[in-house]
Amino acid sequence: MSKIFVIHENATWVEPLRAAFDELELSYEEWFLSEGLLDLSAIPPEGVFYNRVSASSHTRGHRYAPEYTAGVLAWLESHDRHVINDSRALRLEVSKIAQYAALKRHGIRTPRTLAAVGTQNIVEAAGKMDGPFITKHNRAGKGLGVHLFHSVDALRQHVDSAAFEPSIDGITLIQEYIQAPEPFITRVEFVGGRFLYAVRVDTSQGFELCPADACRIGDLACPVGGETAPAAPRFDIIKGFDHPVIERYQRFMAENGIGIAGIEFITDARGEIYTYDVNTNTNYNSDAESRAGLSGMRAIATFLGEESRQLEESRRTFSVAA
Ligand SMILES: Nc1ncnc2c1ncn2[C@@H]1O[C@H](COP(=O)(O)OP(=O)(O)O)[C@@H](O)[C@H]1O
Ligand SMILES: [Mg+2]
Repeated sequence: MSKIFVIHENATWVEPLRAAFDELELSYEEWFLSEGLLDLSAIPPEGVFYNRVSASSHTRGHRYAPEYTAGVLAWLESHDRHVINDSRALRLEVSKIAQYAALKRHGIRTPRTLAAVGTQNIVEAAGKMDGPFITKHNRAGKGLGVHLFHSVDALRQHVDSAAFEPSIDGITLIQEYIQAPEPFITRVEFVGGRFLYAVRVDTSQGFELCPADACRIGDLACPVGGETAPAAPRFDIIKGFDHPVIERYQRFMAENGIGIAGIEFITDARGEIYTYDVNTNTNYNSDAESRAGLSGMRAIATFLGEESRQLEESRRTFSVAA
């Protein structure tokens, strides 16, 4: 069987995947790309490569993991290696602007968003919003830079204060605040381009507070704010979730080199849904999964095992034909 390679920069998030590989007796190798040395003249090994490098790498001291991974993926792709979540996916992972532009091409509604570089432009962007708005980082994960504002003045004060934290790529997003009548967001999980399940994440702990546990585990539903971490939010897998957006997400993923992802949306009072985050590095809530008797990491391991088996088969057929 061809080997499975897992490209990542956070070992903690890979632990449940290792367990799933072991259970299924699949052999794999980890490429931890926080730092590295790439010989451009080398030939990459044969195998299936699963990229799960996260936009929030810099918060773990791995400042250049996404840049280095982009280089490694370019090298792998130049040798026609089979990559799950390829360089197009990584480009989306590290830019919400790129995410929203790609989502819109597939008829998927996103919140009204302005991107600004420079304090002056952030304030000017806020002046163009009709109602309450939030700030967030273009390159984020973990709810970086997410704050809710009700006035331009409040935003101005914030950006002039020491509390203001610029995005690692210098781009701040000003985005319409979607008021959900019920305090939850929905995250839709896909493995191998197939719908796995949707999970409802309770946001009633307050928009400004970061449920630290979820930050650690899920990279999700995690607006920053207070010093004290409240209890982690409750995650519940929705039974029989079905929505026309699933098919749109699938087309969006297929066209952007994404095989495995969790996509988040909020529902407003009229029942309209707004998609606002694509996580090509996705993690799963173990409590919710054990209540539902499902396992995302097992689904990933199974999928990668199947991909590597197919790759091996096609290589064998090729060498027999040759
Ligand atoms: N436009 C919005 N309106 C209301 N809440 C939002 C909006 N965008 C984000 N949030 C809240 O902030 C959280 C973090 O935002 P998100 O865009 O997912 O950033 P990250 O990529 O850092 O996870 C979301 O899970 C949601 O609870
Ligand atoms: Mg998110």
